[in-house]
Amino acid sequence: MGREIKIFDTTLRDGEQSPGCSMNLEEKLEVAKQLEKLKVDVIEAGFAIASPGDFTSVKRIAEIIKDCTVASLARALPKDIDQAWEAVRYAKQPRIHTFIATSDIHMEYKLKMTKEQVLEQAVAMVKRAKKYCSDVEFSAEDASRSNPTFLYQVLQAVIDAGATVINIPDTVGYATPSEYARLIRGVRENVSNIDKTQISVHCHDDLGLAVANTLAAIEAGAIQVECTINGIGERAGNAALEEIVMNLHTRKDIYQKECRVDTKQLYPSSRLISAITGVQVQPNKAIVGSNAFAHESGIHQHGVLANKSTYEIMTPESIGLAQNKMVLGKHSGRHAFEDRLQYLGYSLDKEQLDGIFEEFKKLADKKKVVTDRDVEALIHQKRIRTPQVYRLERFVINSGNTITSTAAVQVRKQEEIIEEVATGDGPIDAAFNALDKLVGITFTLDDYSLQSVTEGKDALGEVIVKLKKGENIYTGRGLSTDVIEASVKAYINAINKILNESGTDEGGES
Ligand code: KIV
Ligand code: ZN
Repeated sequence: MGREIKIFDTTLRDGEQSPGCSMNLEEKLEVAKQLEKLKVDVIEAGFAIASPGDFTSVKRIAEIIKDCTVASLARALPKDIDQAWEAVRYAKQPRIHTFIATSDIHMEYKLKMTKEQVLEQAVAMVKRAKKYCSDVEFSAEDASRSNPTFLYQVLQAVIDAGATVINIPDTVGYATPSEYARLIRGVRENVSNIDKTQISVHCHDDLGLAVANTLAAIEAGAIQVECTINGIGERAGNAALEEIVMNLHTRKDIYQKECRVDTKQLYPSSRLISAITGVQVQPNKAIVGSNAFAHESGIHQHGVLANKSTYEIMTPESIGLAQNKMVLGKHSGRHAFEDRLQYLGYSLDKEQLDGIFEEFKKLADKKKVVTDRDVEALIHQKRIRTPQVYRLERFVINSGNTITSTAAVQVRKQEEIIEEVATGDGPIDAAFNALDKLVGITFTLDDYSLQSVTEGKDALGEVIVKLKKGENIYTGRGLSTDVIEASVKAYINAINKILNESGTDEGGES
């Protein structure tokens, strides 16, 4: 088999900076651990200079991750490079990733710099980064719309300055596959010191071509590919990691390239990102969409039953989607539960397991059959521990289509029990109004969604709320067979996230 392709995951940087996908520190650590389990080569943990919170999360990820390179993004500015190094310096394999735009339009209108200044700045900052760190990546932002001759000149110079990886992004998702492949070949043919470095590609999905462009670039000689789980990212997103990996895996005959990703971790990774961000994966999304392995039509079902390969080009098992659908119920013991978690690819510490088993027992009392999706939902709810400033004690709602809804909500704040009553336009609005009065901080409800985890009247309802405070969005998640309870829990979860970030961390953990 040919060369190995390096998978550079930027879910925690390009993905996280996209609208509605922000994560708190605990969530980022959980994602980083999952990416290590997935065996990506590089985790771009964030943009250290962006805020103190970003700095802390890059640093914590650098400290805990042992089996992947950990990178921080940095503009080609001295303070960015210094801060990026401070954040990644304790990583086993640290990388500084610096960038500057090379297209005429970006240089003129965004940077207000001449070509000569950009070239000089790029070289100076790669040299500065190199003093700290042997592994330095340089990105020529908007490379696909840059003048190729100038691009070659910049790349040649930064390689001489010590860049170990040079990235050629299609920042605005404008390139077509043949054009992008031509650009990569052009770089290989016209940058004389190219063999001293690795070519990386980074594609956005504005025209729906991010994965196609990435694969075309691999065929043209790119070694590293930058991507995100579920394709989350700026605007239409980045190239989806799971699609690139499964293309390499399924069409080995064409690409003849390996990557070290454990494909069985693709589905759990996708579910984790979706649970944390509250951004649902569209059902028909390639590889990880809920319909990706469903065969509805009679002709297809008949074919698959006779021989799977009639309509299946990859197996659900290969991406970690469980096929043996063992169901659990109220008589299932801890052993069966633990076995199921293991089969689904989750390894939890004892404390997490105790908590989830307790939740499972409560759920099994209400629901005849507990499915894998239910178990997953419980895990994602418990796995991320948000310190609880407020905990729900109880609520009473009076509602109907001919009366104004009234909600009385009681919460615990440490040892104190607090209750408020409010009216609203329906039971959920009334409950949210009561909570607003209770917590006494201002924020707005940016988004609310409710969906059932599985089918059936006794299905678990999952509510995602997004609360906006200042410029930040806080995602809360609540689960219950009762949709009002799920809504109240999600609202409290998001409020707790706001309070934790503003330093009012008082309670236990959920
Ligand atoms: O899209 C882009 O150009 C980027 C760079 C910073 C790599 O995200
Ligand atoms: Zn990008």
